[in-house]
Amino acid sequence: MSQSVSYIVDGDISVVTVNNPPVNALSHHVRQGLYDCFTAADADDTVATILICDGRTFIAGADITEFGKPPKPPHFSLPLNAMENMSKPVVAAIHGTALGGGLETALCCHYRVAVPSAKVGLPEVHLGLLPGAGGTQRLPRLIGAQAAVEAIATGRHIDAATAHAAGVIDALVDEGDLLEGAKTFARKIVSEGATLRKVRDMKEKVTGVDPAIFAAARATATKARRGFKAPLSCIACVEAACTLPFDEGMAREREMFQELHDDIQSSAQQHIFFAERAASKVNDMPNDIDLLDIKRVGVIGAGTMGGGIAMNFANVGIPVILLEMNQELLDKGLGVVRGNYDRTASKGRLSDAQVEERMGLITATLDYEDLTDVDIIIEAVYENMDVKKEVFGKLDEVARAGCILATNTSTLDVDEIAAVTRRPEMVIGTHFFSPANVMKLLEIVRGAKTSFETLATTLAVAKAIKKVGVVVGVCDGFVGNRMIHRYLAQSQYLLEEGCLPHEVDAPIYDLGFAMGPLTMSDLAGLDVGWRIRQGKGLPENLAVGERYCEIGDRICEKGRFGQKTGAGYYKYETGNRGAQRDPEIEQLVVDYSREKGIERREIGENEVLERLMYSLINEGAWILEEGIAQRASDIDVIYVYGYGVPAYLGGPMFYADHIGLDNVYRRVCEFAEQDPASWKPAPLLKRLAESGGTFN
Ligand code: 3HC
Repeated sequence: MSQSVSYIVDGDISVVTVNNPPVNALSHHVRQGLYDCFTAADADDTVATILICDGRTFIAGADITEFGKPPKPPHFSLPLNAMENMSKPVVAAIHGTALGGGLETALCCHYRVAVPSAKVGLPEVHLGLLPGAGGTQRLPRLIGAQAAVEAIATGRHIDAATAHAAGVIDALVDEGDLLEGAKTFARKIVSEGATLRKVRDMKEKVTGVDPAIFAAARATATKARRGFKAPLSCIACVEAACTLPFDEGMAREREMFQELHDDIQSSAQQHIFFAERAASKVNDMPNDIDLLDIKRVGVIGAGTMGGGIAMNFANVGIPVILLEMNQELLDKGLGVVRGNYDRTASKGRLSDAQVEERMGLITATLDYEDLTDVDIIIEAVYENMDVKKEVFGKLDEVARAGCILATNTSTLDVDEIAAVTRRPEMVIGTHFFSPANVMKLLEIVRGAKTSFETLATTLAVAKAIKKVGVVVGVCDGFVGNRMIHRYLAQSQYLLEEGCLPHEVDAPIYDLGFAMGPLTMSDLAGLDVGWRIRQGKGLPENLAVGERYCEIGDRICEKGRFGQKTGAGYYKYETGNRGAQRDPEIEQLVVDYSREKGIERREIGENEVLERLMYSLINEGAWILEEGIAQRASDIDVIYVYGYGVPAYLGGPMFYADHIGLDNVYRRVCEFAEQDPASWKPAPLLKRLAESGGTFN
């Protein structure tokens, strides 16, 4: 028997137990162990066999670390067929999460019981895959095509009660003793003359299915997951379950699984899965740091950011005190928060009671003294160093010792802010992305004096509010915005050299980004950057040899601040967020080049794409060289969760590895030769290119 799967005879019942920490993945030795144990159980004289798992969860899927490597026998089908063909009933006993290959294993058992806290699902689509161990063929037979296609194409986790109602779970058993509950269930069905119920033989729910279900699913997936291949393959496989006999459907599933498995999209999505988990690890931090207890939170500033930040805590049941300078701003901020919740409720995603419960967790105040017993305070006031310093001075006075002081700055020096307090070790940056209640990214800015206790607690806070926390160092713009600054600068230079706005945006959108740089600027608002540039006295105060394009300033001078004013690089109609080309701006761009004596030229899509992507990548390499990011995959996580880069590209650094760093470096050097003011090839990029290395 394998060490990770054991088998015992317990009176009239045999029990097969998987123990493969941390998540009981179906590694090759588990597959072999399951086959061996079920073969043995089939031959014993018990009346039923239970499949159960040790540790925190039922089997959470195939072992993802085995993907992309030469396959190790046995294939999933060996143990799964053995289970399904057992001569006595097999009951899967589920706790934690039965995901992917885990649920597929359970679907090969004749019955399934679960504790109420369990969840099931087929999340392979998030790894750029489809369920490859029969899930696309068995789930529709059990719950019907419509429900199955929804579950498989979105990869959603389904709670035990819903799964029970849908027929995936046959019975819910007490949280206390799953094994006992499963045994009781097994004895009951045996005494009632249980049949060896095989999901593969169920036909009713896959007969006469309306093909419109699949057309609708395709339309939804194409819109919601633009460019992703896996959702469409998932839908095709469920469709095959409704049109082909079981074995032919299985063959189709296996073929399509292999296609996805061999595609770069799947490697990229697996990269992001592991990158997301690596991001919370701090290289020099000991494992045994005690976390501070975060029970109450203070948020300073009820503007768009502050309100959104407060919602994150209220959403997970943590009380928040929201402070503003005057009642009017406070009322306005709370109104926006309520409006956000009401909109979610109107879509049926929150009940009215839940809205009230969440609003009830947010207390408003004008008085700093009300913050004396919170555990972390997040400042989200106007982005200005003097203002922030003043706020931190006050917070340091009122907050109890042991309270973390966090700043939501997106550019400012966290160390300078920390220096005005008597607790720099408890000061940290928490850079949320707008809209803060929606975007999953949280850049956690570690100051020179930030303690491990503060850092580890902030990482735990990120997890608690369901954000992906990435630790970054202090520099202007940290990781995400520092890189985007280079990218946006290139978008301007492309305009003055010959592109029109849509020609700058299209190649990036076509690559898969949610939008191109100029549409993104319009969405973010053009006035913020303009004010910052004015504050720096630009372009008058430019350093010698520095490149500057005034097109953005000219657009702002016309009162066009982007989407919110209905006009920016593009024009927008009321009630329609779609950017439309605007002849006025196109003329402005052409006139600007003429005025500056720049001869406009035709710039190919490929050059546009390279200049935009490589400006990100080259700056990313500088950031790694300087230790501002711990690892290239952290940068990828930042771009996927904060900047609308689809997971199937794996983020800019993964993309660079895929293109080949020698190719990227060669082009960066060519660009630097033409335009030394805006391109400085990163030494790390050079070293890796020359040694045949990769970022990841
Ligand atoms: N294979 C290998 N390692 C896995 C894994 C898997 N399927 N799932 C999780 N892990 C690892 C993680 O990388 C992490 O490792 P680390 O500690 O070294 O960073 C560790 O297990 C713990 O994972 P989490 O930090 O994510 O733990 P949580 O408790 O937060 O979440 C979970 C647990 C919900 C199971 C989550 O890990 C998860 O969603 N895992 C992936 C589930 C999945 O996608 N299953 C389908 C796999 S593909 C498949 O089954 C193909 C089949 O159809 C043929």
